[in-house]
Amino acid sequence: MRYGFGGLARGDVWDLGWMDVQNWISMGGSELGAIRHELTEEEISQIAAQVKQWNIRGFIAVGGIATYKQVAKLVAARERYRELRIPMICVPATIDNNLPGTETTIGADTALNNIVEAIDKIKDTAGAAHRAFIIEVMGRRCGYLGLAAGIASGAEMELLPEDGITLDALRRDIDILRRGFQAGKKLGIVIMSEEASLHYDTDFVRRIMEAEADGAFDVRPSILGYLQRGGAPTAFDRIQGSRLGARAAQQIMADIAAGRADVSVIGILQRGVVITPFSEAMEIMDWENERPREQAFMQWRRLADTLAKPEPSGGK
Ligand code: F6P
Repeated sequence: MRYGFGGLARGDVWDLGWMDVQNWISMGGSELGAIRHELTEEEISQIAAQVKQWNIRGFIAVGGIATYKQVAKLVAARERYRELRIPMICVPATIDNNLPGTETTIGADTALNNIVEAIDKIKDTAGAAHRAFIIEVMGRRCGYLGLAAGIASGAEMELLPEDGITLDALRRDIDILRRGFQAGKKLGIVIMSEEASLHYDTDFVRRIMEAEADGAFDVRPSILGYLQRGGAPTAFDRIQGSRLGARAAQQIMADIAAGRADVSVIGILQRGVVITPFSEAMEIMDWENERPREQAFMQWRRLADTLAKPEPSGGK
């Protein structure tokens, strides 16, 4: 379907074949025209009718928190509409990285790279001025982009929704920054998540910083806004999208074949940083080829083959 659940309610259903999706892998934006949409009761009943009319046997819902919420609504409506008793799987796609069941969402890495690139440019032109930049990034109430961008760009400070902002903590951090400038620092980067605080916005933080700088540095704000979104997806996002998309399709087909109406979310969970004894590490090596005998990324081999050599199919 096009234009998300709203499009489905209107009957904007589209037969998508392999040839239609050629080159989507490297394109930014949303070719499916996905859009955030709050379903009304009337639209839910229209969706049930569309499911029946088109004999839709399962949903793969790709999107962010709004998509997950609409899936919850459809699930809640199953009592009333038996057509909605079909398998559904949510695929996490949002720059915010704020979804359950996965450590990373499709799109977050591309946005992160956009942010880091922008910060690098800001740093390039900062010259030798004693200046602190306060850079506001997206992410709603999730600090992933703020924290990850802070680490990747060597920022002095990250203001995140998870921590909130208190005047005491802010004063302490600005104090450290001021002493840094007094000791010779030329540039300071402060990353602020757009919803870091329910009370204080970027301009408020900028004014406090300026007031507390005591002449040691001046402050420039930069709200990166929509430049964070879009652009060619990073290789990481392309691979993640391919892995999750393929697995979701497999799952939905298995559910349909087994007559199940399961509802689930898909994601990638990793184990975090692990320390392995040296002797064990040496044992898992394939010394002839100078690489580990098992390489996690080789799980993608079949996926690559499938995507490269699809069965010929229809579609417009
Ligand atoms: O959810 C993605 C996101 O980019 C958020 O980080 C941001 O707050 C929001 O969308 C902006 O939404 P809109 O496009 O409706 O202004």
